[in-house]
Amino acid sequence: MTIGTPLSENATRVMLLGSGELGKEVIIALQRLGIEVIAVDRYPNAPGHQVAHRSHVIDMTDKESLKRIIDLERPHYIVPEIEAINTSLLAEIEKNKQSIVVPSIKAVQLTMDREGIRKLAAETLNIPTSAYIFARSANELRDGILNKVGFPCFVKPTMSSSGKGQSKVMVESDIEAAWDYAASAGRVNQGVVIAESMIDFDYEITLLTVRSKDKDGETITDFCEPIGHRQENGDYVESWQPQPMRPEALNKSKEIAKTVTEALGGLGLFGVELFIKGDEVWFSEVSPRPHDTGMVTMTTQKQSEFELHAKAILGLPVDTSLLNPGASAVIYGQYDAKNIIFEGVQSALSIEGIDVRLFGKPESFKKRRMGVVLASAENISLARENATKAQALIIPKLN
Ligand SMILES: Nc1ncnc2c1ncn2[C@@H]1O[C@H](COP(=O)(O)OP(=O)(O)O)[C@@H](O)[C@H]1O
Ligand SMILES: [Mg+2]
Repeated sequence: MTIGTPLSENATRVMLLGSGELGKEVIIALQRLGIEVIAVDRYPNAPGHQVAHRSHVIDMTDKESLKRIIDLERPHYIVPEIEAINTSLLAEIEKNKQSIVVPSIKAVQLTMDREGIRKLAAETLNIPTSAYIFARSANELRDGILNKVGFPCFVKPTMSSSGKGQSKVMVESDIEAAWDYAASAGRVNQGVVIAESMIDFDYEITLLTVRSKDKDGETITDFCEPIGHRQENGDYVESWQPQPMRPEALNKSKEIAKTVTEALGGLGLFGVELFIKGDEVWFSEVSPRPHDTGMVTMTTQKQSEFELHAKAILGLPVDTSLLNPGASAVIYGQYDAKNIIFEGVQSALSIEGIDVRLFGKPESFKKRRMGVVLASAENISLARENATKAQALIIPKLN
């Protein structure tokens, strides 16, 4: 492969569909390799817009708008960062060989909602998952929970992330509210929800899995050290790497991650979410792109998950090795307001091994992720302790 000169006729162009904090880091990684990057999001001044060569604001579920900017920019690669995209257009684009869809159109289509990926994993690949049903009405949901899934269980919109619209259902009388909440909060309201039995896990991990080309042009699979994380209401608040694991559980995790990512195909980094209890492993879900809990790799690995994704999609070799243990802790907005300010970055950075990312989002919400604290240390418990301390020192304020 060759890489051209950005902003010239021979530039290698990549278009990011979705340009949040994860897209922003992918853009920076691509630009370090001399790639011309076009950032697209649904609102102006998204984090990735602020570092890309060009940016566009469109509704990415709208076929016409998406087609217009793809025809205008003629990207060599299209890199989805979110699920809510018009994937039928992307399938046409890839079929006409206009652009390469990353990691593959199959991966993007199957992970677009929970139904595609869950059925692939559980029914086609026979990988262990929680018991589940999909429901298209409150009555179907009730039947499915009472007859198959049981209590406690989780109800989620089929298209959502960061725990949006997700609730834990303990008893029959919770079901109606769970249906209403899920149906109202789906990113694109298709009126389909999943109910999943609760897995009583010891811990959960993200196994970052990279499909890249080796020097002979063969596709190979590499794994980063497992990332442990803690979720509150379905949203990640803290992550650390490496999560200690028993060898049997780690081997099973890698096997599952390899099988799932092979079935999805293409090149790039995937975040495979797994639940672990003793030596038992359940597949939960997979992102065909960098994962929020993987932000910790910005301080723990030789090449962060963003650099790994950038290199892998271009067909370049990758290095997934760990440099040192570390942790990340999320900085929430704490206010519903525009143009907030952050105090205390100075104090946070005076703790040894701490680094900070503020994403530059123009509008804050109480529970919107506005930044992250990164901590490097000699072990994960010290890293977590320092990350939490530093995070508490960073205080969002109204302007
Ligand atoms: N079936 C389940 N059993 C136990 N915990 C679950 C289950 N489903 C979800 N969770 C918890 O909720 C979190 C978010 O759920 P997930 O399906 O990953 O949604 P999202 O796509 O919003 O990340 C998980 O990381 C886990 O902590
Ligand atoms: Mg998840």
